Amino acid sequence: MTHPPGTTVLMGLRRIVTFDSDRPGEPAEVNDGSIAMYGGRIAWVGPSSELPVEYEELPRERFDGLTAVPGFVDSHTHAVFAGDRRDEFRMRLEGASYEDIMSAGGGIHATVEATRSASADDLYHASRARLEAMLANGTTTVEIKSGYGLDLETELRQLMVVERLREGLRMDLRPTFLAHAIPPGTDRAEHLDLLVSSIIPACAEIAESCDVFCDVGVFDTAEAAAILEAGSRHGLTPRIHAEQLAHSGGAQVAAMVGAASADHLDHVDEADIMALRDAGVVATLLPGVSFTMRHPQPPGRALWDAGVTVAIATDCNPGTSYVTSMPFVMTLAVLELGLTVEEALWSATRGGARSLRIDAGHIRVGAPAAIVVLDSDSPVDLVYRPDARLVTAVFASGLRIH
Ligand code: NIG
Ligand code: FE
Repeated sequence: MTHPPGTTVLMGLRRIVTFDSDRPGEPAEVNDGSIAMYGGRIAWVGPSSELPVEYEELPRERFDGLTAVPGFVDSHTHAVFAGDRRDEFRMRLEGASYEDIMSAGGGIHATVEATRSASADDLYHASRARLEAMLANGTTTVEIKSGYGLDLETELRQLMVVERLREGLRMDLRPTFLAHAIPPGTDRAEHLDLLVSSIIPACAEIAESCDVFCDVGVFDTAEAAAILEAGSRHGLTPRIHAEQLAHSGGAQVAAMVGAASADHLDHVDEADIMALRDAGVVATLLPGVSFTMRHPQPPGRALWDAGVTVAIATDCNPGTSYVTSMPFVMTLAVLELGLTVEEALWSATRGGARSLRIDAGHIRVGAPAAIVVLDSDSPVDLVYRPDARLVTAVFASGLRIH
């Protein structure tokens, strides 16, 4: 008998964390279970003793004694870039600040220069290596931002590389246009005009979301709102880099425009937290950034306790967080943000999916089959053994891709 691609039964699992529940953080576990994937979707999940007879004939793989969790959803990255920023990293270790380096023409501008001069092929190969590292760490969905071009040609090149990566890898890639900085020597008003009248409409052909870096020395709140509203007019979902370097009003902009997500939030205050909660904006926390920058972490515990939906992500970028591992981010979320292991795992899967507004991050009948098998009988080991390489198998659309 032949079956459609993406059809396999995973047998003998000691534990399955399904997150098939509407309550954030509730693990909804199955013990001694099996998962049937049919045609790329979850067809059945439950105790092995109850596996329906019709699934007994399907191709199967045994994972005796191991743990299955949903594929990780990395909902905030800048994974398509050229070059590196090792020199800047050393300068920061010697006391220079991120803002000083950027206003002296380094930082984001250094990566813009490298990305503008890279060919589409070079950009593709450099980025592909990073995505393969993500996959090896269990990530099956990645949001990827442009923002290292600052001109139409390079922004589009970055987004087209995302499309090409999607063909070459079986990961679910979600492109975002990012208004990241004002090119040095350019008039602010002119650049804003260019964004609204030409760059955003063209990038909206590929991107799903529009993001803006709203902070001191970058875009102010009025500019950020104008950029996100322009994105919305072209069908792009708003998201925002907010309250990263200083308290600058980005969280309130997120609430006002109904952003899917407000990201970073290192400097949010109580009123911001309430506004995010009331507007249903996901708080995407990026603990790899504060770790790399040796800045205080955002108030993850307070956001969660206030009832804000929390996602965690790598922010993979060459400046502030050259991180590709979601298990590493989970470890930081538990040990530095004060989330529980279950909350961190939820934020790395369902939380990211909520931010991207997609059907992912759970092992639920009917959902696309994206599953990670861990070489352990407990998901706690993802955090408890922070340097263990536990990812044994990764399935996406029901196919084993790692
Ligand atoms: O998320 N905050 C702005 N953007 C990135 C950093 C980009 C860079 O430094 O290259 C971030 O931290
Ligand atoms: Fe970022």
